[in-house]
Amino acid sequence: MVNYKELGLVNTKDMFAKAVKGGYAIPAFNFNTMEQMQAIVQAAVKTNSPVIMQVSKGARNYANGTILRYMAQGAVEYAKELGCKNPQIVLHLDHGDSFELCKDCIDNGFSSVMIDGSHLPYEENIALTKKVVEYAHAHDVTVEAELGVLAGVEDEVSAEHSTYTKPEEVVDFSTRTGCDSLAISIGTSHGAYKFKPEQCTRNAEGKLVPPPLAFNVLEAIEKQLPGFPIVLHGSSSVPQDEVDTINANGGKLPDAVGIPEEQLRKASKSAVCKINIDSDSRLAMTAAVRKYFNEHPDHFDPRQYLKPARENMQKMYEHKIVNVLGSNDKL
Ligand code: G3H
Ligand code: 13P
Ligand code: ZN
Repeated sequence: MVNYKELGLVNTKDMFAKAVKGGYAIPAFNFNTMEQMQAIVQAAVKTNSPVIMQVSKGARNYANGTILRYMAQGAVEYAKELGCKNPQIVLHLDHGDSFELCKDCIDNGFSSVMIDGSHLPYEENIALTKKVVEYAHAHDVTVEAELGVLAGVEDEVSAEHSTYTKPEEVVDFSTRTGCDSLAISIGTSHGAYKFKPEQCTRNAEGKLVPPPLAFNVLEAIEKQLPGFPIVLHGSSSVPQDEVDTINANGGKLPDAVGIPEEQLRKASKSAVCKINIDSDSRLAMTAAVRKYFNEHPDHFDPRQYLKPARENMQKMYEHKIVNVLGSNDKL
């Protein structure tokens, strides 16, 4: 049993309260590798920002849960080494799908967990979330729950076929579960293909322009739950310059499209206080590696191509913090 406080980590409670009040959002960056961890910490320290480092079930399978926990502990020490006196780093389980997985993370140093019961019938989502909250709160760990289903790449996102969160359910759900934050569905989705081309329009250069997020649903939720921390998943913007670099260097990502940054900027000023970004990091890493391989076909030392990959991710993380979420200088 390792409590997160022994590792120098913090939970999301004070961080979210400050973010909601201050009209900014905390970045929640997924990590699977040492280079991602280093880039996240370097960006957070350079911008003086709190940060959530999140780990999915897939990341645990890839990198091993214990190693990831030591990396998070290392992240705190690394931040101090880089000159940050008071790092505010959360180690969060992303998309936990069972009580057992959440418990295992809580018992092993995570300071925050998500229990994702969004695919379950409403009452079952409540029962599972409540069970996780009871265990987590006994260990001072915060819990993110989810209500409403994010569109898959194949699904329709529209008011008619609503998988959006129902504002009339959020008070009942948050009161009965005791969750600390709520992930909602307002039109974002995971991955680099968030909308089908037929859901978009095209601008003068022929690039896809996605439909806007359902800010009316967000506003209705905020009215029901004033000041309650709201979370947005699936919030990568899929930067077109990274997609172009990938495609120009042997990749094939036609019509990849994300959430425009001005919409995330607007969301950050509301009760949305955590914004999840994973795909943009994958794109930044892949673009740098593909370009490097193309330009240096004779190189084979991973340090040679992972260095520009790490630098490109750091640049992206800093840009999100300073120009989109506004969490810089909040330590
Ligand atoms: O929400 C999904 C995250 O991007 C994590 O993805 O399950 O492939 O690690 P993953
Ligand atoms: P993206 O795929 O848009 O980066 O979303 C990541 C996410 O929501 C992780 O939970
Ligand atoms: Zn997600």
